Amino acid sequence: MAKAFSIPFVAFFGRNYEEYLAMFSLDESSLRGRSILDCPSGPDSFVAEGFKHGLNVIGCDPMYAMSLEQLCKSGKEHIDECFLQLQQTPGNFDIRDIDKFRKDKYDALESFATDYLSGKETRYIDASIPNLPFADRSFDLVLSSHFLFCYSAVKDGGMLQSDMFDLDFHLKGITELARVTRSELRMTPTHSMQAPPRRHPYLDASVKHLESLGFKVTIEPSDYDDGFAPFVEILVGRSS
Ligand SMILES: C[S@@+](CC[C@H](N)C(=O)[O-])C[C@H]1O[C@@H](n2cnc3c(N)ncnc32)[C@H](O)[C@@H]1O
Repeated sequence: MAKAFSIPFVAFFGRNYEEYLAMFSLDESSLRGRSILDCPSGPDSFVAEGFKHGLNVIGCDPMYAMSLEQLCKSGKEHIDECFLQLQQTPGNFDIRDIDKFRKDKYDALESFATDYLSGKETRYIDASIPNLPFADRSFDLVLSSHFLFCYSAVKDGGMLQSDMFDLDFHLKGITELARVTRSELRMTPTHSMQAPPRRHPYLDASVKHLESLGFKVTIEPSDYDDGFAPFVEILVGRSS
């Protein structure tokens, strides 16, 4: 059995615009004219590039309480720490082109950092799950990737060494994401972060919870294959 990938903190680590579209199975034209929340957005470049492409997108993350200098320092350190962990846990993630994967993270961080100060307080909001500073049903589309599910404890299918984001936290977080969603909530990944590939142990309870909040839920395929096929999927909740 592969050694578990585990880290002691939530990484300030972000994907680029193309990865975001692939990961959430979205194309740019389907995003035009919709108000979008990316939560958490970390140092991904979806907000920066989306804004440049004329999308109405806001990102939020608790790390936005820090200065740009601190964010860049944490971003670089966390990318390096994650790649060190990847090397030390072979057989867990099957990333086809590791050099491209790493470059994409550095490019995303650079694009984020270039945009951050001009968008501070308008498209980069300091906020945490499960208490978001937005009115009910504020966003047509809410995207949430690589925080919920990923950072449950290793023993629960995630990669965090501590148990601070347990099932109860996840259900509260999903309630909050649902509260600010007017139309559609997309969450990914939905697989466990440890080999062999399987659905995340919190997924069934999360789906039932979202349904109890009045959402119609489907599990749909994603093109962002990070080595967990056939469980490379998106949870899609549509408000009824
Ligand atoms: C791996 S990044 C994900 C960024 C982006 N969604 C992506 O997939 O590229 C995880 C982010 O979760 C943020 N985070 C930590 N605790 C959080 C909380 N309670 N609520 C929301 N975000 C949190 C971290 O600051 C970090 O930026």
